[in-house]
Amino acid sequence: MNTRRLPVFADVDTGVDDAMALVYLLASPEADLIGLGSTAGNVGAQQVCANNLALMELCGRPDIPVSLGSAVPLSIPLRTAEDTHGPTGLGYAQLPVARAAPTGHDAATAWIRSARDHPGELIGLATGPLTNLALALRAEPELPRLLRRLVIMGGAFDYRGNTTPASEWNIAVDPEAAAEVFGAWGDAVAAGHVGELPIVCGLNITERMALHPPYLDRLAEAAGPHPVIGVLREALRFYFEFHDSVGEGYLAHVHDPFAAAVALDPALVITRDACVGVELDGALTRGMTVADWAGHWGRPANARIAVDGPGLPEVFFDRYLARVAPFARGLGEAM
Ligand code: RIB
Ligand code: CA
Repeated sequence: MNTRRLPVFADVDTGVDDAMALVYLLASPEADLIGLGSTAGNVGAQQVCANNLALMELCGRPDIPVSLGSAVPLSIPLRTAEDTHGPTGLGYAQLPVARAAPTGHDAATAWIRSARDHPGELIGLATGPLTNLALALRAEPELPRLLRRLVIMGGAFDYRGNTTPASEWNIAVDPEAAAEVFGAWGDAVAAGHVGELPIVCGLNITERMALHPPYLDRLAEAAGPHPVIGVLREALRFYFEFHDSVGEGYLAHVHDPFAAAVALDPALVITRDACVGVELDGALTRGMTVADWAGHWGRPANARIAVDGPGLPEVFFDRYLARVAPFARGLGEAM
């Protein structure tokens, strides 16, 4: 049995659910989280970077390099989502300021170095806007060949948006970046330079990962007293209030930890290959991810779109608790 751990690079806009994703990766024995990219999105890049550093330190992993990404999208001003994730991006949670500093290179460089250090083995996970991944692809067009797998939390397929009627947040913040990312994978496929197509987890599947407060109580009960669970609880409390304020109910759609779980185990989802384009010009539809299911465009598929999965959402939530609870309990016992 192959017991080698999977090198993972996570590009995040931490963010309440991004934080859940990072804890899941740290709690997963098969994952070797080798680096983080801090992308502007839910909050500004500097705050995302501070959140990442603080969370790694809280989880006993100050060794994991955290890089700062671009302060702004490729070609439009930044928009952020403090209404959704709170003023710092972690809801009501208060984390000790990290002692570690970010790396001396930017997130795009971190993508490239990580991929070159693990040729054909690196699993890339993007749970924020695709600004830094697009910048990395501009600098290293071979990235699709260097990566073993890419999982993107983004888009909405035959499903409404959450930021506009047509666009999901990670795409809406930087549609040009998303278009460049899907375009680059399409070019790589056409040139025969890619192994797996990116697995894309859009709202059509991630909004099925609805976390309700009793689950959090079960997690806290099983995890013990380590403060990381308190951080998730306080972060999610803000997120619950946001979802309730927009009529979704007192719950939280936890998009990013689901994408993280898929990054480690693609068998969690059933996918359909399609060529995905990103609308850039539509007055009503800018930022929409369009899947050409029927091949009208005559272009090769550039994405594997997650459309369902066996036993979801229970399988995901059970796995999340089964990993994060003992991880947090172990941190508590080491205190
Ligand atoms: O639309 C949901 C996505 O946008 C999630 O990744 C959330 O963290 C925000 O980045
Ligand atoms: Ca995110």
